[in-house]
Amino acid sequence: MSARPCLVIAHRGASSYAPENTFAAFDLALAMGAHHLELDVQMTRDEHLVVIHDDLVDRTSDGNGPVNSHTLAQLQALDAGAWFDAKFAGERILTLQALLERYRGRAHLHVEIKGKTEGLSERTADIIRRAGWPQAVTITSFQKDKLQALRAYAPELPAGWLLRNIDDDITGAATRLGIGQPCPKAEWVTPELVTRLREAGFNVRAWGVSNVDLMLRCVQAGVDGMTVNFPDKLIARLGK
Ligand code: G3P
Ligand code: CA
Repeated sequence: MSARPCLVIAHRGASSYAPENTFAAFDLALAMGAHHLELDVQMTRDEHLVVIHDDLVDRTSDGNGPVNSHTLAQLQALDAGAWFDAKFAGERILTLQALLERYRGRAHLHVEIKGKTEGLSERTADIIRRAGWPQAVTITSFQKDKLQALRAYAPELPAGWLLRNIDDDITGAATRLGIGQPCPKAEWVTPELVTRLREAGFNVRAWGVSNVDLMLRCVQAGVDGMTVNFPDKLIARLGK
């Protein structure tokens, strides 16, 4: 298998060290040397796109309740940093727009469509198109219907399909879906799987790299990239 670079994708930013999906976590990832940032988007009650992983705000802010029951103004009044450590008090829930503006020209964004809201794929594509740097963004999702909607609405945007399982027809399914990047869960990654997907013309990006052993497994299998909460450790390993 030919050696290809392995992309270090900071998962929700450098989220082992700073509150996930905040400027603090993304800035730290860049400072560590990662040039790819992963983030999650959901829609607010007043139809803005915000960067947050869970359907509820409870775990990662001082608020409570569903993201989509809040307006943008209500979400931006919450503290999104102190839950992680008092030194991060004052971090805010971000809009996708703010993220695109801050990291323009400095990072490739892997935007995961997380929420179930109707129209989320199209709205995400609109914001990315307006920002004017579509080739520096990859849209991902576990949700096949969201990827189908994205393909129909914005075929020019690179897309990745987050997979919980690998079945025999994975290359056929990914081809029919029209995505270039199947994203297997780290524990399913093997050199054989990487070769199979590469030979079918795909780029292979792992997710769910929850510890260093899984990170090494993915590196040794030759993946094209992976999301990690600890980009510094992957950068150190790849530098060896
Ligand atoms: O890299 C994809 C990964 O972010 C998917 O899982 O739950 O962390 O969004 P999750
Ligand atoms: Ca994610």
